Amino acid sequence: DKGEFRHYMMKEIYEQPKVIAACLEGRISDNKVLTDCFGVDSSFLKSVENVHIIACGTSYHAGMVAKYWIEDLANLPCTVEVASEYRYRKVAVPKDTLFLTLSQSGETADTLAALRKAKELGYLTSLAICNVPSSTLVRESALTLLTNAGAEIGVASTKAFTTQLTALLITSIAIASEKEALSAIKEAELVNSMRSLPAHIDEALKQDVAIKKVSDRFANKHNALFLGRGPMFPIALEGSLKLKEISYIHAEAYPAGELKHGPLALVDEDMPIITMVPHNSMLDKLKSNLQEVAARGGELYVFADKDAELQNTEGVIFTEVPKVDEILEPIVHTIPLQLLSYHVAVVKGTDVDQPRNLAKSVTVE
Ligand code: F6R
Repeated sequence: DKGEFRHYMMKEIYEQPKVIAACLEGRISDNKVLTDCFGVDSSFLKSVENVHIIACGTSYHAGMVAKYWIEDLANLPCTVEVASEYRYRKVAVPKDTLFLTLSQSGETADTLAALRKAKELGYLTSLAICNVPSSTLVRESALTLLTNAGAEIGVASTKAFTTQLTALLITSIAIASEKEALSAIKEAELVNSMRSLPAHIDEALKQDVAIKKVSDRFANKHNALFLGRGPMFPIALEGSLKLKEISYIHAEAYPAGELKHGPLALVDEDMPIITMVPHNSMLDKLKSNLQEVAARGGELYVFADKDAELQNTEGVIFTEVPKVDEILEPIVHTIPLQLLSYHVAVVKGTDVDQPRNLAKSVTVE
């Protein structure tokens, strides 16, 4: 039932404050991640020395964000790979590596094949972050953290992605805490920030009308370039995947620092450049990347908080994103990108919930 919404995708975008709260429920206390959130005592994480994350599509992008969190908070090496690559190559597994899969459906053929291969290779243990409790992936993994997003009907993944990020942040903090890489004060700060996530998502959704207006400018566009730095780079990848899936606009994403190494050649007055601007030490670097684009006549769509001082710059179409703690930025900045791709698809008149050639669950290779 779509309720008041025209499409499932929009209904699911608006469900995010509620389902993120459901994902946090029972996983955090006032000041820490609860030690039983993986179904067993989390002290098993003390022996983790490496993390291998495997997933496909949108779930892969969530894994890419987690790499930044795990290396930053837990100081552990983390690699992220698409399942269809991992399953067919010779993989070197360092001692005491955690095998972590991400999947909304838990039925993605390549991800399941990767898990079966991993069991033969020998890992410390396998953990699945998944939305479907009765899925094959959950059944075959040693440990599970459910995302609790509820059924997702729209083919383009929205609430499944942001709850995966929430579950990954819980996991990253749990690993960091067990590895004693995180002080109790810092853990309490992070957990406290997480608790405010549903309210921040609510606030981000308030830009819906403004973003709908912006989307009209994409009616005749055939290309788009997404830029991000740090954990915002995978969010740029996710924004470009969403746009191409449902509006059929060709979109690419690059780490902003790569611009000069090739993609800058694409920039002209016809090329919209979409950037999620984090409020951190990279802000000034990103601003200079944006100037490179502006100097070549590119149309800049900037999503930033009001203190980033970008709103008054020439040639910039600015949309405000709530100012949040740095750790939450990738999750909160996803919301405007979901809304943008939704409204662009509506303007283009495509089938939002059932894009051509795609299936919700990819159970074949
Ligand atoms: C994109 C999308 C797909 C899935 C991918 C993996 O919006 O939904 O890219 O993320 O097919 O599916 P799961 O997460 O079910 O393994």
